[in-house]
Amino acid sequence: QTASSPARSGDLLMYQEGPKKGQPVKAADLKEGVAVWAMAVDPATKKPRDAMKSGVVVVRLKPSEIKDSSKKNASGGVVAYSSVCTHQGCPVKEIGSLGQGKGNIICTCHGSIFDPRDNATVLGGPAPRRLAALPLKAGAGGDLMAAAEFTGKIGPK
Ligand code: FES
Repeated sequence: QTASSPARSGDLLMYQEGPKKGQPVKAADLKEGVAVWAMAVDPATKKPRDAMKSGVVVVRLKPSEIKDSSKKNASGGVVAYSSVCTHQGCPVKEIGSLGQGKGNIICTCHGSIFDPRDNATVLGGPAPRRLAALPLKAGAGGDLMAAAEFTGKIGPK
């Protein structure tokens, strides 16, 4: 782990927006197919290590749909990926509800589509690479935490 890592093993996932902003994300609170946006935060300071690159999209998947590529990084059926698009760095903002995007992570800037069941593989659009995965584990009280650093590069280039 390097000093510049935007997430490290043991970092807590905290809601980035909405009524639970600043609270830890728990696997049990999440509904299947619904994404929440969170930051990986240093448990000592409760602050993200990077204002942008510590951002993650967190999704609970149907257990039967999780591919082996995602299974190793999942905790309680929940997976997390960097929320920085690998195309031009927009924040990914949606889980699609229609067509090819259904159940997938979408970057609305230029329409890239990533499959959360398959390690955020690119299914469509201009993104050159998958989103980096953040391996998860459950901590005290079911709070989701990083089990390791992001696997792969965050954002463009
Ligand atoms: Fe995400 Fe272009 S920045 S598709």
